[in-house]
Amino acid sequence: MKLPNKVTIKEVGPRDGLQNEPHHMSTENKVAWINQLSESGLSYIEVTSFVHPKWIPQLADASEVLSSIKRKPGVTYAALVPNMKGLEGALQAEVDEVSVFMSASESHNKNNINKTIEETFPVLEEVVNEAKAAGKTVRGYLSTVIACPYKGPVSPEQVVKVADRLFSMGIDELSLGDTIGVGVPTQIERLLESMLPVFKVDKLAMHFHDTRGTALANVLKSLEMGITTLDSALGGLGGCPYARGASGNVATEDLLYMLNEMNIETGVDMERLLQAGELLESILVKPLHSKQMDISRKVEER
Ligand code: HMG
Ligand code: MG
Repeated sequence: MKLPNKVTIKEVGPRDGLQNEPHHMSTENKVAWINQLSESGLSYIEVTSFVHPKWIPQLADASEVLSSIKRKPGVTYAALVPNMKGLEGALQAEVDEVSVFMSASESHNKNNINKTIEETFPVLEEVVNEAKAAGKTVRGYLSTVIACPYKGPVSPEQVVKVADRLFSMGIDELSLGDTIGVGVPTQIERLLESMLPVFKVDKLAMHFHDTRGTALANVLKSLEMGITTLDSALGGLGGCPYARGASGNVATEDLLYMLNEMNIETGVDMERLLQAGELLESILVKPLHSKQMDISRKVEER
């Protein structure tokens, strides 16, 4: 099996994780948790999103969180931005990298950001141009790359088409999201077989939700096909509130275990990551359901 030597893990828990949490987390607790994540060796943390507070009330304190965290040199602190209003807030709070997002499926795009796919392009193009003019790198997210929660399967051709528009705006990287966690390795293979002849592999990231327990299998298929950037969320939190049936991201600690055991370098320290997990559990007042957190809890109980 040919695998990369090194992988970048992009932690999306403070954004993708908290946007779907029923528990309201205070700004102070978010900041404390993100500060602890910064000490784990992660090089990239998606901190929050500058979206409408009525749509995502959990992240209404985006500016405060981004302005209050202790920034560790070498760590990129990113935020999700849907439009110019969001970009203004993110730039004011001195975000390092901006993430724009849209969906490959018409229905999820409309439900999530209230626009058709065609209407979304000029909005994102302006954001990308302005973010670049402000000296920021821009990540793109493309959701529902396997299936739409409303209309079912999405073809790889459709994903390539929308991805092409996003890359032609000048985004630096595109993260492909299996938003509702339905994909299996054969589908990931078909998707990447369509993407890789068109886009550079090092410009692509994979973002797996683990609704049906297939995320790590999909990670392995992605690694075999040359992907070296993976999104995950501590404790397996996450999900898009505008994608029915979506649940948590692949857990960072479970992903890290697999990569460590395969001798793939990430720079992330398991012990420190689990400490950030313990802090998160104490804030949320509930156990996190990842294999690694379960194991470390059982070891402590003994
Ligand atoms: P809209 O209602 O169509 O916006 O929402 P609008 O442009 O018509 O403006 C309406 C009002 O909203 C105006 O205020 C604007 O100022 C205000 P009013 O004049 O009525 O007082 N407004 C804003 N306020 C704060 N921040 C903003 C903003 N923009 C407009 N940025 C909008 C459109 C995109 C804003 C809304 O639909 C929205 O916020 N959606 C976000 C949904 C979301 O965050 N979903 C989850 C993230 S995506 C995801 O999880 C998938 C991913 O993880 C990958 C994967 O898993 O596949 C990334
Ligand atoms: Mg997601």
